[in-house]
Amino acid sequence: MKILIAFTTNYGSTATAAEMLKVQLKADAEIVDLKETDVDLEKYDFVILGASIYAGRIQKKMTTFIERNLQKLLSKKIAVYLMAGENNPGEQEKQLIKNFPESLLKIASVCGHFGDVINFGKLPFYFKMIVFLIQRSSSSRSNIDEKAIKDFADKINGMA
Ligand SMILES: Cc1cc2nc3c(=O)[nH]c(=O)nc-3n(C[C@H](O)[C@H](O)[C@H](O)COP(=O)(O)O)c2cc1C
Repeated sequence: MKILIAFTTNYGSTATAAEMLKVQLKADAEIVDLKETDVDLEKYDFVILGASIYAGRIQKKMTTFIERNLQKLLSKKIAVYLMAGENNPGEQEKQLIKNFPESLLKIASVCGHFGDVINFGKLPFYFKMIVFLIQRSSSSRSNIDEKAIKDFADKINGMA
């Protein structure tokens, strides 16, 4: 089984999660940053889509990629993960529903939330303002959920 992990990121945590996931996968997996390069889906049996949430939305590049390739994606095995600050499972589910087509979520073998990273110093001024207003501090945090990544990978490994 050949796996593609296709991701979009603004500040890198979705890419870090992709690397951590790849390490846990038993099958051959290739990581592609959709902002850097296009991808030929024909080569893959299993496609894992990873993106991060900003003001409720994933990157436009991921949305466009899914729209353009929906029919091909629907013919593959699919899994989806998000990087997001949201901890509430009900709200996390809403984030998935809001950002991915119903048809894709319906066939997804696994959906996961892998936590979040905020590198306050790296953010532009207006993002700093938003984060400050939400968390009432200018501290950075790194909460990548290694267990969630392992559980997600185990489910996929179990399907191979
Ligand atoms: C300006 C800003 C807005 C954000 N908005 C949301 C949000 O609406 N919901 C959420 O769950 N997380 C939100 N986050 C958290 C990000 O999804 C999280 O930091 C993620 O790890 C970023 O991924 P990236 O490094 O791949 O870009 C926000 C973060 C920033 C900096």
